[in-house]
Amino acid sequence: MIIQADDPIVEIHDLTVSYDKKPVLWGVDLTLPKGQLIGIIGPNGAGKSTLIKAIMGLIPNSSGYIKLFDDELSNVRDRISYVPQRETVDWDFPASVMDIVLMGRYGKLGIFKRPRKVDREVALDSLRKVDLEGYKDRQISQLSGGQQQRVFLARALAQQADLYFMDEPFAGVDAATEKTIIKLLREMTERGNTVVVVHHDLQSVTQYFDWVLMLNMRLVASGPTAETFNTEMLQETYGGKLTLLSEVGNLLKQGAFPSREKNEQVKS
Ligand SMILES: Nc1ncnc2c1ncn2[C@@H]1O[C@H](COP(=O)(O)OP(=O)(O)O)[C@@H](O)[C@H]1O
Ligand SMILES: [Mg+2]
Repeated sequence: MIIQADDPIVEIHDLTVSYDKKPVLWGVDLTLPKGQLIGIIGPNGAGKSTLIKAIMGLIPNSSGYIKLFDDELSNVRDRISYVPQRETVDWDFPASVMDIVLMGRYGKLGIFKRPRKVDREVALDSLRKVDLEGYKDRQISQLSGGQQQRVFLARALAQQADLYFMDEPFAGVDAATEKTIIKLLREMTERGNTVVVVHHDLQSVTQYFDWVLMLNMRLVASGPTAETFNTEMLQETYGGKLTLLSEVGNLLKQGAFPSREKNEQVKS
């Protein structure tokens, strides 16, 4: 079930991505709306990270094309922010928390320029938003997983982008941190930013996301969560993973997924 966004901020047409000539994403065709909190779900190896990397131009497409803000990536790169999956980052890299967050300012600065006062202020403000102001001089390697995740979120905030891609920002964070982060993401979308999040906890999907994208090497569903996140689509996405599937099926039957109160947000 693929529902198109009225005034899309992301457009993907017939995208196929391969590693060593072996396709891992096939014929993905979708549009995403502006100003919403968007979830990407699907089993391990479904191509969730690959999709984001392809959008960010980090891996080449075998076919198809992607438009962002109705433009090419190269023209709008500084309006887009990317938070990679935590496991893929080298945390022994010698840098302080502040150094990492200031990296979010490079696009506005030029890489050889020294950060200005305003850049430091924005960076500090971003750290404050994730409750890490007091950690600015720590080495990133000394922080816990959840704290590192928040530093990366602060770096993305410091970039002051319009469109954010976050790959599993809740992986390895405790429940309190997850709550802080989701609140922050919600505030961002309320200000008109668009936030796309790879997510693996199916229980919180309806509570968190306005729009959901369900992936398993091909696109199974994309659309408002209330319309697309149902047993049939879950079955298509997770087919074969029976334990998980029956768990999800049962939860759906019990109505364990809360329904969205703010249905007006689902409009694109
Ligand atoms: N750099 C790579 N080289 C070869 N295969 C890769 C590479 N990265 C990912 N893959 C493969 O592509 C598929 C999709 O991976 P990925 O996008 O990381 O999935 P997800 O994020 O949904 O878990 C998997 O089968 C994975 O093994
Ligand atoms: Mg991944």
